[in-house]
Amino acid sequence: MGLHLHLLQAQLLVSVLLIFVSRSVSTQSNFQIGKPNCTDHCGNVSIPFPFGTREGCYFNKTFLVTCNDTHYDPPKPFWVDSNIDITIISLEGQMRVMQFIAKDCYSRDGTSSYYNEPSITLTDGFLVNNTANKFFVIGCDTYAHVSGWRGNRTYDTGCSSTCNDKDDLVDVSCFGLGCCQMSIPKQAWKVEVTLDSYHNLTTVWDFDNCSYGFLAEESAFTFSASSLSNLRNVKELPMVVDWAVGEETCEEARNNVSSYACKSEKSKCYEPDNGYGYRCRCQDGYEGNPYLDDGCKDIDECKDQSLNKCEKKCENTPGGFKCVCPKGYHGDGKKDGQGCMRGQLLVFKVATESSNDLLMHCGVLID
Ligand SMILES: *[C@@H]1O[C@H](CO)[C@@H](O)[C@H](O)[C@H]1NC(C)=O
Ligand SMILES: *[C@@H]1O[C@H](CO)[C@@H](O)[C@H](O)[C@H]1NC(C)=O
Ligand SMILES: *[C@@H]1O[C@H](CO)[C@@H](O)[C@H](O)[C@H]1NC(C)=O
Ligand SMILES: *[C@@H]1O[C@H](CO)[C@@H](O)[C@H](O)[C@H]1NC(C)=O
Ligand SMILES: *[C@@H]1O[C@H](CO)[C@@H](O)[C@H](O)[C@H]1NC(C)=O
Ligand SMILES: *[C@@H]1O[C@H](CO)[C@@H](O)[C@H](O)[C@H]1NC(C)=O
Ligand SMILES: *[C@@H]1O[C@H](CO)[C@@H](O)[C@H](O)[C@H]1NC(C)=O
Ligand SMILES: *[C@@H]1O[C@H](CO)[C@@H](O)[C@H](O)[C@H]1NC(C)=O
Ligand SMILES: *[C@@H]1O[C@H](CO)[C@@H](O)[C@H](O)[C@H]1NC(C)=O
Repeated sequence: MGLHLHLLQAQLLVSVLLIFVSRSVSTQSNFQIGKPNCTDHCGNVSIPFPFGTREGCYFNKTFLVTCNDTHYDPPKPFWVDSNIDITIISLEGQMRVMQFIAKDCYSRDGTSSYYNEPSITLTDGFLVNNTANKFFVIGCDTYAHVSGWRGNRTYDTGCSSTCNDKDDLVDVSCFGLGCCQMSIPKQAWKVEVTLDSYHNLTTVWDFDNCSYGFLAEESAFTFSASSLSNLRNVKELPMVVDWAVGEETCEEARNNVSSYACKSEKSKCYEPDNGYGYRCRCQDGYEGNPYLDDGCKDIDECKDQSLNKCEKKCENTPGGFKCVCPKGYHGDGKKDGQGCMRGQLLVFKVATESSNDLLMHCGVLID
């Protein structure tokens, strides 16, 4: 009977614990992300400050997000007043946008049947991420350029992709047959893609009647032989854009308290590795929005199974946690450390290994 009750209690405890864990996981990012009284999402896209949908809600006009709810369901966010549509904004300093792909298509006789030359223009410290994105050129009689501006200078680079026959494409990687890929320089804020062919695709037309070029998130595109025809139906692909909240260094930014963007007391400033401007992040052990007053909140590591490294009892502290061993135990309490060991002296441990009661007794004594 007693045992039965214990079992029931244990089960109850486990299920309560489970509910608790799943809830704490799903609410983990449930801190306030926008300014008070500001819309913090558009459709299913979160809009954390410094971004905002109206005056008073953004850091400055560069971080305006225009939410179009009249023509789109769910509503779609656009960057400032451009046609650049945003799919993710991260507080780590990235924004994912959809970018049109360039296409150059021909009829059998070599006359152009479709051509477009998309471009993207960013401003004020919004820059194309040069590590997450790659320039892809797809086609069997194709060369392409990506050009534009970085700082106050132009850049121009490109690659060429050919193949003689469909079976050149059995290799499903982008290594120069039917597909080439390359990096673009740091700090690009304007990107233009131009496509061209050597023979208007007449020599390859039976299996390839279009060329494609795009700067896109590398992980969003995998080349295969079917890309030649599948891309015909693709309008846009995601691209990663980096943002910074100021154009100066952290040291310079800190000099002006009123304009310094790292508002939360528990935030710190860092400079992104593309070499432009500064950003803010929460100090270790804190999470939330570093750009808001009091935006960084203490993480309760004890409630998070992946952070709670304690063997027995975990106590949350501001910015951290500590492991506590029950009375009669010693050690650092960490699962990957000493853990909690009974008693204090090896002599006692050995001597009392066979009797639990005695052991407890010994522990207390030592304490
Ligand atoms: C938010 O809106 C409420 C009700 O409209 C108002 O009472 C409150 O002062 C506003 N808070 C801020 C910070 O603007
Ligand atoms: C947002 O909604 C769009 C369209 O319904 C969907 O494709 C996309 O995956 C959603 N994004 C997130 C982050 O849920
Ligand atoms: C919403 O998008 C449509 C189609 O792109 C455009 O015509 C309209 O002006 C936009 N509305 C707003 C409020 O931006
Ligand atoms: C290109 O080929 C596809 C079939 O692979 C065909 O549907 C399309 O009409 C062709 N385009 C032109 C311009 O002939
Ligand atoms: C290739 O296409 C271009 C543009 O459509 C056209 O001006 C040119 O005459 C074509 N060349 C050939 C060899 O068909
Ligand atoms: C271009 O930018 C560099 C560094 O940002 C600056 O020193 C230089 O004066 C600028 N040149 C022009 C012509 O604006
Ligand atoms: C807004 O902030 C960005 C980043 O600090 C800066 O480059 C830009 O000049 C600012 N724009 C305005 C209108 O103040
Ligand atoms: C500090 O920033 C404020 C707001 O951006 C600006 O008006 C002021 O001129 C700056 N002060 C200095 C000393 O740069
Ligand atoms: C570029 O994107 C990658 C992957 O998202 C990220 O790790 C990196 O920090 C970004 N670069 C900058 C300068 O933000």
